[in-house]
Amino acid sequence: MGENRRTPSHVGLIMDGNGRWAKKRLMPRSYGHNAGMNRMIGLAEHAKKCGVRYLTVYTLSTENFSRPKQELEGLYSLFRKYFSANAKKLYGQGAAIKIIGDLSVLPEDVQILLADGEKNSPENAEFTLIFAINYGSHAEILRAVNTAVERGEKIGAEDFAKLLYTNGIPDPDMIIRTGGEKRLSNFLLYQAAYAELYFSDTLFPDFSDEELDKALEDFSKRERRFGNV
Ligand code: IPE
Ligand code: IPE
Ligand code: MG
Repeated sequence: MGENRRTPSHVGLIMDGNGRWAKKRLMPRSYGHNAGMNRMIGLAEHAKKCGVRYLTVYTLSTENFSRPKQELEGLYSLFRKYFSANAKKLYGQGAAIKIIGDLSVLPEDVQILLADGEKNSPENAEFTLIFAINYGSHAEILRAVNTAVERGEKIGAEDFAKLLYTNGIPDPDMIIRTGGEKRLSNFLLYQAAYAELYFSDTLFPDFSDEELDKALEDFSKRERRFGNV
């Protein structure tokens, strides 16, 4: 299980509130998503400076696929824009990119762009930015179970973890959710068994570096017992 460290090694971030942020400004939801992506890149750079080693950003859930086609198309365009420009910027700082989720339903050019980003990442990077795209814990767990069943052997926890999308990534120490809702919405349910939860009412595009500092500070004060005394 997790190590006791003052700074979380792995932070999961549920970036919620883009739509409401845009609505408050009488702008379309896509405007909020664009602002959210910009903020996410800034936060990733800040998290890296703070000593976070893995940052998993919940970018698109399996459930988000029921959203209007126009909103999804807008998100794909954002991936196109950000993955060509910012992926390179991140590599420049010795960061790696990883994608978790089922990409097979995305437009083919986006799939290629994401796969390239992952492939061109440096080995043994000091910081890894993990994008959860068309990710859902239920789908992830069922996929792992079905693979295990196909193999026809009972498996233990260690081998099961290898069948999850997060294979090779340590469990999150902390999950932050912005936007006011207090739920996990199918994000890293298996992996977050011992994650510290942090909820902020701030809508994601407004979630500043200082607010991340506050969350990290809060984490540093928590006593993690992992079931022990
Ligand atoms: C989160 O913001 C980003 C995605 C789910 C893609 P929302 O789009 O859910 O924003 P709100 O919750 O409607 O404000
Ligand atoms: C969670 O936000 C998904 C992402 C941030 C990608 P949602 O806005 O989809 O969650 P619910 O519907 O409020 O639970
Ligand atoms: Mg939302």
